[in-house]
Amino acid sequence: MQFIGTGSATPELIIKNTELERFLDTSDEWIRTRTGIEERRIHDGNLEGLAAEAARRAMENAGLSVSDIDFFICSTVYNRFMTPALSCVIQGLIGAGCPCLDINGACAGFVYALEMADAYLARGHYQNILIVCAEEPTRMADWTNRATCVLFGDAAAACVVTKGGRDPLFRMHTASNPEVLHGYNTAGNCPYDKSGRVYEPMTMNGQEVYKFAVSSATEDIRALCETAGLAIDHIDHFILHQANLRILEAVRTRLHQPVEKFPHNLEHYGNTSSASVPLLLDELNRAGVLKRGETIAMSAFGAGLTTGACLLTW
Ligand code: ACO
Repeated sequence: MQFIGTGSATPELIIKNTELERFLDTSDEWIRTRTGIEERRIHDGNLEGLAAEAARRAMENAGLSVSDIDFFICSTVYNRFMTPALSCVIQGLIGAGCPCLDINGACAGFVYALEMADAYLARGHYQNILIVCAEEPTRMADWTNRATCVLFGDAAAACVVTKGGRDPLFRMHTASNPEVLHGYNTAGNCPYDKSGRVYEPMTMNGQEVYKFAVSSATEDIRALCETAGLAIDHIDHFILHQANLRILEAVRTRLHQPVEKFPHNLEHYGNTSSASVPLLLDELNRAGVLKRGETIAMSAFGAGLTTGACLLTW
C-alpha cells in the first residue's frame, strides 16, 4: 500500500482557551499545562461540507479525479446522520460513484480504515481507495463539563492510498470497557423500550484513558518494531493521535526518542478524534517533511477501549 495524496479541511471558527473561561470554571493556564491545547476549531453545522473539501484536496494532491477512486471509507464517530452513512452524503457532494461505507473505530478509526484499505487493495479488485475522517466531537461533548469539552475540536482529513509500495504492519486491539468513555443515544419514541435510556453526552475517566494511551502506544510501537526486525531509532516520524501533549511526551520519553520525531498540532486543533492522525499527516506532507522511503509509526487510541498502530514506509 502506498500513500499518494493527503488533504484536510478545518472549520473557520477558532475558539481560544480564554474564550472558554467566559462560561466554564477553567483557565487557559490549566488547559495548556494539562493538555497542551491552546485553541480548537468548531464547525458551524456543515461537517459533510468539510469532509468533501478534505476529500477533494486529497484527490487533487494525488493527481486523481473522482472517477479514479474505486472504494471510499469514511471514519466517523458521530455526525448528524443516523442514516444514511455519512460516506454516502459525502459521495454525493464529491460526485463519486464507487461503493462506500462508514466505520467507527473511535479515535483509532483512521488506522482501522487504513488496515481495511490495505486488505482490500491486496485482494486485487481496487486500485485507489479514498479514506475520509470526518469528526465533530464538539457535538458529543457536554459544554457544561469542563473535564471534557475543553479537549475537543472538529476537523476532516483524508488520504488516497493505492497498490504498491511496501506492506505496512498493523497491530489492532479492542477491549470492551464502555465505563471509561461513553455517550448514549436515546431510544427514540419506541414504546417497547424498557431501558429508559436517554441521550447522555460523552463522559470520560481522563486518568484511565491517559494511562491506557501511554502504555498501549508504547507497547504497540515496540511490538511492531520487533515484528519488523527494526530498531525503534530507525523510525523517522511518530504520528500519534493528538489528544494530549503529555501523552505524546510520555510515549516519546519511554521510547527514548528526540522531540523532533514526535510532531504535533493539537495546540491548534484539540482532539479531533479519528481526524487527528490524517490531519497531522496532511500538514507534514504539504510541508515536505515526509520523504519517500521514510518509516512512519502511527498509533491512536480511543473509546472502546480501542487502539490501532501501524508501521509503514512513506
Ligand atoms: N479546568 C480546570 N480544572 C479542571 C478542568 C478544566 N478544564 N478539568 C478538570 N479539572 C480539575 C478536576 O476537576 C480536578 O479537580 P479536583 O482536584 O479539585 O478534583 C483537577 O482538575 C484534576 O483533574 P484530573 O482529571 O486529575 O486532571 P488530569 O491531570 O488527569 O488531566 C485530562 C485531565 C487532561 C483529561 C487527562 O487525564 C487526559 O488528557 N486524559 C486523556 C484523555 C483523552 O485523551 N481523551 C480522549 C481519548 S478518546 C477520544 O479521543 C474520544
